[in-house]
Amino acid sequence: MATTLITNGKVISPTGVQPIDVLIDGEKIVSLLSPGQAAGLGIVADKVIDATGKFVIPGGIDVHTHFELPFGGTAASDTFETGTRAAAWGGVTTIVDMSLQRYGENVLDGLATWHAKAEGNCAVDYAFHQIVGGVDEESLKALTYLTENEGITSFKLFMAYPGVFYSDDGQILRAMQTAADCGAMIMMHAENGMAIDVLVQQALARGETDPKYHSLTRPSPLEAEATHRAIVLSHVAGNVPLYIVHMSAGDALNELAAARHQGRNVFAETCPQYLWMTLEETLGRPGFEGAKWVASPPIRSRDHDPDFVGQMGHGHQGDLWKGLRMNELAIVSTDHCPFCMKDQKDLGLGNFSKIPNGMGGVEHRMELIYQGVVTGELSLERWVETCCTTPARMFGMYPQKGIIAPGADADVVVWDPDTKTHIGINAKHHMNMDHSSWEGYVIDGKVDTVISRGLTVIENDEYTGRKGHGKYIKRGLSQYLV
Ligand code: URP
Ligand code: ZN
Ligand code: ZN
Repeated sequence: MATTLITNGKVISPTGVQPIDVLIDGEKIVSLLSPGQAAGLGIVADKVIDATGKFVIPGGIDVHTHFELPFGGTAASDTFETGTRAAAWGGVTTIVDMSLQRYGENVLDGLATWHAKAEGNCAVDYAFHQIVGGVDEESLKALTYLTENEGITSFKLFMAYPGVFYSDDGQILRAMQTAADCGAMIMMHAENGMAIDVLVQQALARGETDPKYHSLTRPSPLEAEATHRAIVLSHVAGNVPLYIVHMSAGDALNELAAARHQGRNVFAETCPQYLWMTLEETLGRPGFEGAKWVASPPIRSRDHDPDFVGQMGHGHQGDLWKGLRMNELAIVSTDHCPFCMKDQKDLGLGNFSKIPNGMGGVEHRMELIYQGVVTGELSLERWVETCCTTPARMFGMYPQKGIIAPGADADVVVWDPDTKTHIGINAKHHMNMDHSSWEGYVIDGKVDTVISRGLTVIENDEYTGRKGHGKYIKRGLSQYLV
């Protein structure tokens, strides 16, 4: 087995930053050594990576991607091959994608389709959550079966998208009760889809068809209300662990924080787009360009709604950054769901409700959250905790993943804090999209080297990995349960 020594770097974990050398043997981390100790012990590694002046962090884990998702009359444009390669470019060594079951379909068939899409195609390791788009007797049995046998222990339900993935409150309660019985986690897309549909029809009737109306017809109180309702239902269902996906708004965060304060088993993630982007600068652009940023929940206005009082008086973004610092928000994921403008987003020309919902970002999460470290929003430790370690613990992959420690998989990123990253279609961009959602962003740091289970996949600005290296990870139950 080949050995690799990463020397002279500073290892970052949720609990600190320390000068440590990391020894890898084959697919595993085998030792953490003090600087120079390897030479003293007579260890001669096959490969030495000099990380002087650099950070050494666990490989990133993005727990919310949609590769090849059929949605909005088309399918997300990244395959497992292109998407996991872009992930590698972004310092991500594990992704958790959303396997799909729609109303009228069999869950196990949906899962088999997802395995067929992924197997033999991935550059980095992968796992699945299961979307349950049709809650009935059969899918509830499958929920228990997948938890106990297939390493799928988290199930996404939707309070949004009536007629597509939507579940009503009774279906949600039943799924939560089943999950509570077998220890699984319910993940919730929390937006009041029924009310949103009314606002959408009213807007279209007034001739309001531009992309910005996607955001204006999904106001943040309808995310807060759904968040509250999901929390209440999870409590009634026996305090089942509940994880709110892609939280975008300060008023939804208020509901989450209050429930956590009461000791409820409720967690949430946010995404870089909600931390950095505003409606005014994205969907609000003239013409159809705003379609690039149509995703749900929508990117929010710079300021809170006038009749809503946020947490800190700094708009939604200030609230979300504060939520991350305070561990009200546990994780940053991307909700990577890319669509090209040509032949995909342009399905909604003249009618914003027909624009496929989603944007791409799996390549840029580690960079964009590191920028929050540079601007003083987060500590280095919290960057690693929210992007690497907590994702592993939340979704039953720790300590195989998410930490630099002996026995863990050798998923390691060497991070250069002294080189800038220019994001853009003609700069750093490896996702299968004809535009970048992050065009023009400049990051004060850079992914230098990426190792996925012992294999170097990014080095010297080149992709050195291979399709099929990535393995399916069977997950255990969430390790955050009380
Ligand atoms: O707009 C989004 N978020 N598209 C992906 C599907 C989902 O709701 O997560
Ligand atoms: Zn969603
Ligand atoms: Zn999603």
